[in-house]
Amino acid sequence: MRRVTAVSLRFFLLDPTKKDQGGRVSISAADIPQTPTLKAIGNRRSIRYYDPDRTVEDWKIQTMLQAGRLASCQGNINATEAIVVNKDTCDLWDEIEECVSGFNVQIINQSSHLIFWLTNLNAWYGRANDGLSTLALSGALTKYHGWNYEFTMTQTVPRLMSFPTERTDQLLRFESGQAVAQSMLAGVSLDVYSILIAFGRKPGGIEKAFGLPPNLKLTWGHAIGYPLEESHGGGQRVRLKFNKLFHKDAYGTPYEPDPQVDAALKEVGMIQEQAPIAGRFEEVDEIAGRFHRDPGVVSWPAREVTRLMNDEDWDFGPNIRARAQQVLDEGGLPDYPEEMKETFRKIMEEHNLDVRKFLGED
Ligand SMILES: Cc1cc2nc3c(=O)[nH]c(=O)nc-3n(C[C@H](O)[C@H](O)[C@H](O)COP(=O)(O)O)c2cc1C
Repeated sequence: MRRVTAVSLRFFLLDPTKKDQGGRVSISAADIPQTPTLKAIGNRRSIRYYDPDRTVEDWKIQTMLQAGRLASCQGNINATEAIVVNKDTCDLWDEIEECVSGFNVQIINQSSHLIFWLTNLNAWYGRANDGLSTLALSGALTKYHGWNYEFTMTQTVPRLMSFPTERTDQLLRFESGQAVAQSMLAGVSLDVYSILIAFGRKPGGIEKAFGLPPNLKLTWGHAIGYPLEESHGGGQRVRLKFNKLFHKDAYGTPYEPDPQVDAALKEVGMIQEQAPIAGRFEEVDEIAGRFHRDPGVVSWPAREVTRLMNDEDWDFGPNIRARAQQVLDEGGLPDYPEEMKETFRKIMEEHNLDVRKFLGED
């Protein structure tokens, strides 16, 4: 049972949901808050500190699942499924906890629910034909685009169905990714935050715990809940520059972003202040203190931090530059361990990457 604290009681009283006559929590359209899509994209962060005293309402979870269900899927074959888990009611919690990667244990135990997103490879072989039929019946696939019955039955469907599972695995995982992303944004729009989490400690362990057949692949674990930290998570996390990621007409021709577009996107809240916002490190240390966890963050070697800050590819703004300088000024930074350098050297050389740059040897 969850503890009812003053905080959770307050949120319960503020919660716009009502119980219907059957005791189920009901919600009406007027009660659903609407964060515009671009703002929800801007508000999204991977949240790692969840309020253990707040449970996400069932209607919000259903809304997130609906968002996944409504995501685009190839040939309308609906390959993405999910298992929603609450640690207070799921008998498999101990097994689940054993499988999650060590750095995610605290996250799953403080989050409200876990969603295990599954990709059903059999959907490809068993539902491609019906899926295409639903699209024709819906008026989505028409002769205008060259669809004709004879070709579909003798060429398209048999060709699709003959794909090996390695290929369908790749195709359908992409589609599950779309469903998950859409579900995360729907959550943010309702103030429910998310993080995708690896279950790498025991490969195959989750499939085993749930008794999944081989065609049902665990694609990703997803924790959801109400943030314990500020929901801005200390700011929007830095990315590579737009023109380093996007190309125009040919690979290598940078797609230059228009400063006016960026300014407008800032105004609507899609592009937000970059991390770390002032007070971030004090905030996470305060939370660590409350939950008897270690304070502080991990830092990289001084030479590496300096090199990174000079890397032209990254879109570093003043906040992260100031933090890097502070970390350098405080000093006491480590060097890479020898065995890590060896691993780097081996792997980067295998991929024809300039390892000297990353090991400070140039
Ligand atoms: C597929 C996927 C798996 C991830 N796995 C983990 C994880 O196991 N643990 C974790 O702390 N963060 C995980 N993350 C979160 C990323 O590290 C995160 O995207 C990164 O911090 C960028 O920040 P943002 O999501 O807040 O914008 C994952 C993200 C993705 C997309």
